[in-house]
Amino acid sequence: MYAKKSNEQGPRRGRSFDSVNSAYEEKQLNNDVTFSKIDENQDNRSISTGRPTRSEKGFATIIFSLKNEVGGLVKVLKLFQEKHVNLVHIESRKSKRRDSEFEIFVDCDTDHEQLKELTQLLRKHTDIIDITPSDNSAQPDEDMAGVPWFPRKISDLDLCVNRVLMYGSELDADHPGFKDNIYRKRRKYFSDLAMNYKHGDPILRIDFTAEEVCTWGVVYRELNKLYQSHACKEYLKNLPLLTKYCNYSEDNIPQLEDVSRFLKERSGFTIRPVAGYLSPRDFLAGLAFRVFHCTQYVRHSSKPLYTPEPDTCHELLGHVPLLAEPSFAQFSQEIGLASLGASDDAVQKLATCYFFTVEFGLCKQDGKLKAYGAGLLSSVSELKHALSGKANILPFDPTATFNQDCKITTFQEVYFVSESFEEAKNKMREFAKTIQRPFTVRYNSYTQSVDILKDTSSIKSMVKDIRHDLDIVEDALNRLNA
Ligand SMILES: [Fe+2]
Repeated sequence: MYAKKSNEQGPRRGRSFDSVNSAYEEKQLNNDVTFSKIDENQDNRSISTGRPTRSEKGFATIIFSLKNEVGGLVKVLKLFQEKHVNLVHIESRKSKRRDSEFEIFVDCDTDHEQLKELTQLLRKHTDIIDITPSDNSAQPDEDMAGVPWFPRKISDLDLCVNRVLMYGSELDADHPGFKDNIYRKRRKYFSDLAMNYKHGDPILRIDFTAEEVCTWGVVYRELNKLYQSHACKEYLKNLPLLTKYCNYSEDNIPQLEDVSRFLKERSGFTIRPVAGYLSPRDFLAGLAFRVFHCTQYVRHSSKPLYTPEPDTCHELLGHVPLLAEPSFAQFSQEIGLASLGASDDAVQKLATCYFFTVEFGLCKQDGKLKAYGAGLLSSVSELKHALSGKANILPFDPTATFNQDCKITTFQEVYFVSESFEEAKNKMREFAKTIQRPFTVRYNSYTQSVDILKDTSSIKSMVKDIRHDLDIVEDALNRLNA
């Protein structure tokens, strides 16, 4: 799926219901919301602001929804007690999404591991809308203060994929499936699956309906008429492999679990199901760990060749063939790594560059323009348009590209062309160096975590690894010359 522009704000700490940062809030809370305070722990509150102060342990904000029934809240609060998590602030409000529910906003003292355990437990009893760990619940280093929270290891993604910005199980009035109750119910099913997914779980195999397979079939058939002439050679190389190993065909929707296993062997990428659009920060964070967030639902059958949001046709036909390509996988991961702990402004610039490359990028091959962007390779009309000779095309240059407007429901006003993934990667690398961060990061594939390079000891450790790699190269060369 593609990351969409959001209105992310500053440090994620010490918020209240009315300052929660998400498009959901933007859409749902712009009118007339009242809060009722249920409980407070005065010992942990700042006298001047009434907001909780940070404890030594760490701090997190959780928002979840509950059915409006007697004893429901008490049952959930006992889970906090069970995990020895101290609540310091709690508010409630009536849900704007469903009349039968209300929403609870909680600030609590918790360390990182405790928060993960609590999250798993809460998911069994509630719909979690948002979890925001503070800096020091996950980033204990004092000199990282002020750096936005970011996942340090792959399982930390469990904490940041519940913040779905739009769609998910809720559809806008102009969505093709808005008035179709059966479709909406089906979307809720997929949304719940994604929300309950945890790192390490196998991805549930879906029994797709005949209608869903038919919709996929139309998209598959029409796009396959264009690929030979319009898609880049890396795409054309990998598509037959997906037919062979993941059962890509007109009458079968491939399963994400099979695709994830295939990608892991080809490029180290894995798939993680997601309910809808994530914020650019959360989406790019996944790429840093070679995790690609994929929707699992199918677009509405009334418009098989149009969708206002990413769906599994877009993911499987647009993204997956390129994610199987090691050079492209590396390019995608580097954008993700550059985003970790970066400012909101820098994340937005990276997300825009991602949008005009991974989603809508063009490249030159054998003197001809070809598409490698997933937004193009999954849209019959825009793929034709981008390569029609009539589209506005400019060379990819991150320092100019990040100013371009991203269009979601119309064709892009301009497309950016790179000579190769290698060239695009080098340009992004240079751009990433201009991002202000008091550290740099390196992905550790053994532990699936990021090493923070910010002092001589962490840098020396990396130099040691490089020396070891150079020893291997030297040994290999000596053997060649022997
Ligand atoms: Fe996408």
